[in-house]
Amino acid sequence: MKVTVVGTGYVGLVSGTCLAEVGNDVLCLDVDAAKIRTLEQGGVPIFEPGLEEMIRRNVAAGRLRFTTDVEQAVRFGTVQFLAVGTPPDEDGSADLQYVVAAARAIGRHMDDYKVVIDKSTVPVGTADKVRAAICEELATRGVDLPFGMVSNPEFLKEGAAIDDFMRPDRIVIGVEDERALALMRTLYAPFQRNHDRLQVMDIKSAELTKYAANAMLATRISFMNELANLAEVLGADIEMVRKGIGADPRIGYHFLYPGCGYGGSCFPKDVQALLKTAKDAAGIDLRVLSAVEEANENQKSVLPRKIKARFGDDLSGRTFALWGLAFKPDTDDMREAPSRTLIAALLDAGARIVAHDPVAIDEARRLYGDEPRLRFTDTPMTALEQADALVIVTEWKAYRSPDFAAIRNSLRTPVIFDGRNLFSPEAVREAGIDYYPIGRPQAA
Ligand code: UDX
Repeated sequence: MKVTVVGTGYVGLVSGTCLAEVGNDVLCLDVDAAKIRTLEQGGVPIFEPGLEEMIRRNVAAGRLRFTTDVEQAVRFGTVQFLAVGTPPDEDGSADLQYVVAAARAIGRHMDDYKVVIDKSTVPVGTADKVRAAICEELATRGVDLPFGMVSNPEFLKEGAAIDDFMRPDRIVIGVEDERALALMRTLYAPFQRNHDRLQVMDIKSAELTKYAANAMLATRISFMNELANLAEVLGADIEMVRKGIGADPRIGYHFLYPGCGYGGSCFPKDVQALLKTAKDAAGIDLRVLSAVEEANENQKSVLPRKIKARFGDDLSGRTFALWGLAFKPDTDDMREAPSRTLIAALLDAGARIVAHDPVAIDEARRLYGDEPRLRFTDTPMTALEQADALVIVTEWKAYRSPDFAAIRNSLRTPVIFDGRNLFSPEAVREAGIDYYPIGRPQAA
């Protein structure tokens, strides 16, 4: 099938590449000429395991191409994926200007039947706006061409996006006509594996499903984070509690890990957008979800609070080693990362920071420019030299089994603040290090 993907961000690039991988002819469009040049030259603007090889393979096979030519891109694909950004407006609602602009371009240039697919995470009701924008452009041209409208939200986890696309749990298709549905069935047939993963529903339900999934996951995390804070005060161990409740299949073990707050490009933005949609479109306060957001903001300050409780509010003259900048492992993404709240708090209190991350240092340099009190190192252990304490924010595999004796010998005061509960508290304490995990017994 001929597929056009509008937007070569995270979602567009992964979707386009995976669709090419199963034999489709894919043309990816972006207005950012520099990005398209990078892609044409074999570069990949984002870090995602496996993506670079897959792009290279499909480009070489002639199935995956890139362009800035809007007219060519619209004419090309029978299916047109909209995977442009929907950044939050000042008030938290999703900014749809890029989605609507892409829809208008389709209406301006299409010359035969198209299926237009919303892949970006967009508020309930966006498909109606996209349809209206296309119809308006067609009317201006004085032509009447048929097109199908589909909402097909993505459920891609950064760091595991290729696998999520190639082996999906479910493929949600919001659709209102048979012709578009038949095309969707054909397009997704290679990803079905041994049973039908397509969940066909009306468009509004599909749009809401995406927000509901992320809101539910964010709720689990905030709930666990609050319980962790409680466990800490009561002298209980949240890791025991987590296992104890996870064994119930109605609860399950997934996504129950307490930490220093969720971040990333999806949860914070989607939670806010859903709150906003509920309020504006339905006059409803989603009280549970407001609390989820508030609890997460609070959680991002848990590490700075513990550090100040130990070292005092004025941290000038102190240096902290920081392990992890990315909002989670296997990505260089620092959007809404807890590391940013921590860095801001430590710098504000006068501290110096020496940070390590396996892939996000370039991103951190871009964000912090030449902040003189923030340095980066190539290895986790060199970050510890002359540091007062170690703070861990991202659970990279490389941090999971360090040499505790070496850590104790490097740090001025052997203290670890662990925002991801990476270690056995006994092992750390036996090495003579004061250990502050989340929701577990704290160093005296
Ligand atoms: C998420 C959804 O999982 C995905 O389906 C959707 O399409 C996009 O948003 P992503 O943002 O890549 O994906 O990250 P995810 O792995 O879901 O983690 C989100 C945040 O939650 C991270 O900051 C992570 O550290 C945190 N988290 C996750 C926890 O604190 N505890 C957990 O148990 C799980």
